[in-house]
Amino acid sequence: MDYHVSDLAFVSEGRKKIEWVQREMPVVSGIAAGWKNTKPLQGVRIAACLHVTSETAVLMTALKEGGAEVRLCASNPLSTQDEIASSLVQDFGISVFAVRGEDRETYYQHIESVLSFQPQVTMDDGADLVSTLHQKGGNLLAGVMGGTEETTTGVTRLRSMAYHAKLRYPVIAVNDADTKHLFDNRYGTGQSTLEGILRVTHILLSGRRCVVVGYGWCGRGIALRARGMGARVAVVEVDPVKALEALMDGNEVLSMTQAAAWGDLFITVTGDISVIRKEHFFLMNDGAILSNSGHFNVEIDIEDLEKVSVNKRSVRSMVDEYTLANGKRIYLLGEGRLVNLTCAEGHPPMVMDMSFANQALSVQYIKEHVSDLRPEVYTVPQEIDQEVARLKLSSLSVEIEKLTEKQIQYLSSWEMGT
Ligand code: ADE
Repeated sequence: MDYHVSDLAFVSEGRKKIEWVQREMPVVSGIAAGWKNTKPLQGVRIAACLHVTSETAVLMTALKEGGAEVRLCASNPLSTQDEIASSLVQDFGISVFAVRGEDRETYYQHIESVLSFQPQVTMDDGADLVSTLHQKGGNLLAGVMGGTEETTTGVTRLRSMAYHAKLRYPVIAVNDADTKHLFDNRYGTGQSTLEGILRVTHILLSGRRCVVVGYGWCGRGIALRARGMGARVAVVEVDPVKALEALMDGNEVLSMTQAAAWGDLFITVTGDISVIRKEHFFLMNDGAILSNSGHFNVEIDIEDLEKVSVNKRSVRSMVDEYTLANGKRIYLLGEGRLVNLTCAEGHPPMVMDMSFANQALSVQYIKEHVSDLRPEVYTVPQEIDQEVARLKLSSLSVEIEKLTEKQIQYLSSWEMGT
């Protein structure tokens, strides 16, 4: 079997971690159990480019249980959990190409390795796999029946590809399922981002001036949790409706220039480039902490930071101190990469269960509906989204109310008023 992981010495640690999160992923595990005999993905070659975590391992084993052949590479050079990669190779016979801290060249070599087994389905997180495949073109591209995309940034890239008529096969935007972004983006990112920051800095959030840049589902979750831990939260947002929502949710709303001078802790989650840059660094307080929870390491302009700094040193694991020409010190966490995955373990399995159940069922949907699909970005079919919510509630032993016949009739009538 072809693979490239860091060290097979940590296999048993990885296996125990996978077993641990499995307890919190009953929906994916239930789907896998149902697939054991039916094998709906028999022989389907899936190339996955995801964060290599214990939750991803549970998804990979479910796909294998469904009969698929899976190859996995990392969707971020710094998010791989090496012991999980090793266990997937050794214990589960899955080809993994991922090493925590790999350089850019190795990152793309790993994507090539995953593509080289001629996938029929791509499963992406951020669209680097799809983008690389489309730039290569040729027979490889022709053999793909469809793909899935996990995250907001990836969906934005795919929509751009579709808009420019460059997308060559259908992709299901898992991110846009309600059972994905309402839970994973909001509560998953909300909790794991703060967890990453706290793990590596050991700071107290209570009373701290925390600036959240971007008020999408991730930003909402981070601000909510930061307020809950006693931080004073300001939001920076370009969309007037979202800015108003942020204000009425109980946050301050500031421009980036105002926020730069106000904050102690900065968290970017915009999906955009250079949202904190040169002009802002000079306004910051001595000791300001910068972190990013958006998909790519482009939100904090690190090139600018390097340019305006006279000194850089590592002061703790995953914490770099930059000293500016004006003598102030700025601390950058996790090299500006996803702080929840580089400084902690990513979203908890409880929410990844729903995201990955959508992934698994979307792959099955692609296989079964391939002839009906065009090269477009599709939302997850509503029946899958609803089924994932039902399965999750059932796993939590939560019973919900049912409409009576009279209520169904009332909702479908237009004649009845007061
Ligand atoms: N994205 C965010 N958290 C994750 C996790 N725990 N596993 C895989 N992908 C993730």
